[in-house]
Amino acid sequence: MAVQISPSILSADFARLAEAAAAVPNADWLHVDVMDNHFVPNLTLGLPVVESLLKATSTPLDCHLMIEDPDRWAPAYAEAGAGSVTVHVEAAKAPVRTLRQIRRAGARAGLALNPATPVEPYEDLLGELDMLLLMTVDPGFGGQKFLDIVLPKIRRARELIDRHGGQIWLQVDGGVSDTTIERCAEAGADVFVAGNAVYGAEDPARAVDGLRALAASAEPPSRGLTGR
Ligand code: DX5
Ligand code: ZN
Repeated sequence: MAVQISPSILSADFARLAEAAAAVPNADWLHVDVMDNHFVPNLTLGLPVVESLLKATSTPLDCHLMIEDPDRWAPAYAEAGAGSVTVHVEAAKAPVRTLRQIRRAGARAGLALNPATPVEPYEDLLGELDMLLLMTVDPGFGGQKFLDIVLPKIRRARELIDRHGGQIWLQVDGGVSDTTIERCAEAGADVFVAGNAVYGAEDPARAVDGLRALAASAEPPSRGLTGR
């Protein structure tokens, strides 16, 4: 499993997003949190800002839609050129159709689960996904405390993915830092979103390197023993 780091610009200066992107040239993705003040109690940015960001950076955008009615809005983010578009299963009314539209538009399709949402009911949807996002905080804000209670679900999700063929990325988002990232990697996550841990650091690029090294040094669950 290759470790990937996706710094969340939610923790950056919204008046200087191009600079925030340039500050982490070593990042695999830029994580863009789209919030609508309905699905979550916070409001951030939407498609016009994503379109501008796409022109301002060559780092692929990892768009995390925390919005009602993602079925209506998600394909447009893929069509605009986002590399990855993730919708919440709690909000999507037609997740299969929406995930297929995202892929058809050329982006990777992601499905996000809140901490209280179990993963098992979505096993049959794995074939529609390029990435599964397990929230490790209740979504809405940066800088929240990592929820350890999600760790068993990360392990179970890793088992499901491995049983399915192992091609799907397993992302964690919320409270990921140098004190929590190893636990996530050990449980089987391979894509790590980090907001405060990157943009709250004096040197964001160094923070990305530090997180990557910690995740890479962690021992992931052994393959081949899954599902038994
Ligand atoms: C929270 C967002 C996260 C947030 C993470 O709802 O989805 O992407 O930016 O921020 P930290 O890493 O500070 O918890
Ligand atoms: Zn996010």
